[in-house]
Amino acid sequence: MAERVVLAYSGGLDTSVAVRWLIENEGVEVVAVAVNVGQSAERGGEDWDAIRTRALAAGAVEAVVVDARTEMAEDFCVPALQANARYEGKYPLVSALSRPVIVRHLVAEARRHGASAVAHGCTGKGNDQVRFEVGTRALAPDLKIYAPARVWGLSREDCVELAAKWEIPITVTKDKLYSIDDNLWGKAIECGAIEDPWAPAPDDVYTLTRATETEPVEVIVGFESGVPVALDGQSLDPEPLIATLGRIAGSRGFGRLDMVENRRVGIKSREVYECPAALSLIMAHADLEDLTLERDLHHEKARLEPRWAELVYDGLWFSPLKSALDAFIAQSQRHVTGEVRLRFAPPGTCTVVGRRSPVALYDHDLATYDASDSFRHADAEGFVRLWGLGVATWSARQGPGAENRS
Ligand code: ARG
Repeated sequence: MAERVVLAYSGGLDTSVAVRWLIENEGVEVVAVAVNVGQSAERGGEDWDAIRTRALAAGAVEAVVVDARTEMAEDFCVPALQANARYEGKYPLVSALSRPVIVRHLVAEARRHGASAVAHGCTGKGNDQVRFEVGTRALAPDLKIYAPARVWGLSREDCVELAAKWEIPITVTKDKLYSIDDNLWGKAIECGAIEDPWAPAPDDVYTLTRATETEPVEVIVGFESGVPVALDGQSLDPEPLIATLGRIAGSRGFGRLDMVENRRVGIKSREVYECPAALSLIMAHADLEDLTLERDLHHEKARLEPRWAELVYDGLWFSPLKSALDAFIAQSQRHVTGEVRLRFAPPGTCTVVGRRSPVALYDHDLATYDASDSFRHADAEGFVRLWGLGVATWSARQGPGAENRS
């Protein structure tokens, strides 16, 4: 019996050609797995029936569509939000979050269909191959991995020709301008005109963040233990909440990023992102932490957040350090409860204009400059004297200006 391979299938040209290429060149049977992680939001979502039909037309013995939107929101976006995760201080890990979701389902389908290998359509230059393969190794070290696009040496034109020859129903209308990857957390745009880091990104790259509204709007985001649970007082599950906030923010033109980033494989690349929901939610969540986290916990968490983002970016979602950091972050979120008022003003700004919490550590009676405050002013004198005692001793022994002598 032929070996079975479970392929991460997007429905696009490359993975459609990959189905048939694996059959012809590796002599395997292909099970295509398409995972819905909330992509193509601007088009109202993908046509999953058409994608399934295309996989079968390409020669797959089975084509499975998995709706992983809730899982994407609750098990991946929410933890990333709690970690305020932004790779290199900017990018909220859009693609890096969806790959482990897809890997989970690839492995599950491999088991269900008795497959001995998984496959993906990534090339050798990107991060996504790393995430697919390292994730698969973590969950199922026994599975073999095929990466046809890394070995086949086909140009885009070759793929179009092969698709025609193999009668795979692909609609290739015009030259694809950009390489796009998107999900509930946002959208990544690469290639084409944006490969020149000096050139401004052409306006047509943006689809989720166009300021179609002209008036500013305020939205109150409610959190319970670090989980976003409500918009303007209306309870929502994470998935619809993220999608709704993304539309509100995006329609005010908020959520664009234009940056040069370090890929895991050693390449610097110019990337454009649209992440209206991710960036506004992280802004709100981080602000609520300012109000509710004790100082040492807050500072330590801030030191660990970049490491968490880096691990996830580097394909180590399933790894021991990531799990240990998850435990720390989960513990830190117990009292991150309250509301944050966000103001979106077209074209493209988002500002926190208010925050409140039943467990706020902000104490008005302590903070106020009113004479009626509850702060014990007399305690300050002794505290500050001891705080500066070491410095005073140093200065007295070694003389003022000692810091300038080498
Ligand atoms: N540079 C981003 C990342 O590594 C986006 C990758 C987008 N992937 C794609 N196949 N276009 O996470």
